[in-house]
Amino acid sequence: MILITGATGYIGRHLVARLVEQGERPRCLVRDIHRAAQFLPVEKIELVHGDTTQPETLPAALKGIDTVVHAAFITADRKVASSELYNKTNVGGTANLVKAAEEATVDRIIEISGLGTKPDKPGSYMQGRYLSEHLLIESRLQWTIIRPSVLFGKGAPFIKGLVDLIKTAPVVPLIGGGKVLFQPIHVDDVVSVILKTLQDPQGTSGKIYTIGGPEYYSFSQVFDELLQATHKHRLKVYAPTPLVGIGAAVMEAVLPRPPLTRAAMTLFSFDNTTDLQSVERDFGFRPRSFHEYLQTEGVL
Ligand SMILES: NC(=O)c1ccc[n+]([C@@H]2O[C@H](COP(=O)([O-])OP(=O)(O)OC[C@H]3O[C@@H](n4cnc5c(N)ncnc54)[C@H](OP(=O)(O)O)[C@@H]3O)[C@@H](O)[C@H]2O)c1
Repeated sequence: MILITGATGYIGRHLVARLVEQGERPRCLVRDIHRAAQFLPVEKIELVHGDTTQPETLPAALKGIDTVVHAAFITADRKVASSELYNKTNVGGTANLVKAAEEATVDRIIEISGLGTKPDKPGSYMQGRYLSEHLLIESRLQWTIIRPSVLFGKGAPFIKGLVDLIKTAPVVPLIGGGKVLFQPIHVDDVVSVILKTLQDPQGTSGKIYTIGGPEYYSFSQVFDELLQATHKHRLKVYAPTPLVGIGAAVMEAVLPRPPLTRAAMTLFSFDNTTDLQSVERDFGFRPRSFHEYLQTEGVL
């Protein structure tokens, strides 16, 4: 029996849909049962109310579970009232979940992390990601960590943010000159990797998989692809990273859903890439091309 945390999230929703398609009935831990009904096929799954930051809600959710897919995180694109929420949810929530899993019948846990996770300043978004991975590594559970690059697919947050910017702004900002590389991977391919990991506990245990699509794109080239797909012409303007950081802080302070956050700026401090054959080599299939996806399906 599988428990999915973060089932109402972007990856979680796609994972639940595929598991249901396969005839499974996964258990989904959700914070708001009524809200979950908007995103999940509630009659085909088991819904359980819970919150990783509230440890008392976890034992009932984990009863009879052998595998947890952990995708309940505060992601970099979310506005947070205080950066303490990263620590509370991403570190504290994972610690609660691991502890409750160790005390229950759970054998293994699969964490959906992010490419480039590394130690950073105490209390920062990235440091929280790093610590959340380490909680698994140091646990008594069998663990697997999956670190995807940025995602594309219908409604994918990173791409949607850029498309919204193209649609509303007269110019588009090339953060830090637009040279940072990305390796966009389709959400369905990330789900296929999770499903293959679920099917192969022995082969995938104790491993960290960094996964990306079949091509690299500089940030500037990502904009080129999206401009072509939206049939728009925009001037791409060099935007120094410190200046964009200040802009992100201002947007976070005044907008309910800012297009850029200070945590998301972390993504521009390194190339979000792994080797181009990562998925084919480790999981035996070729992921979709971002360029071909945009050509055939456009921006949705
Ligand atoms: N999307 C991407 O482009 C992308 C790329 C690379 C890596 N990733 C990684 O993949 C993982 C999942 O990302 P995502 O895009 O699916 O995230 P998302 O859409 O923001 O969803 C986050 C999920 O976590 C849940 N959640 C947050 N706090 C919780 C708590 N205290 N207790 C229980 N549930 C809680 C949310 O529930 P509510 O519905 O109640 O808010 C939601 O279901 C993250 O680690 C992310 O960094 C994502």
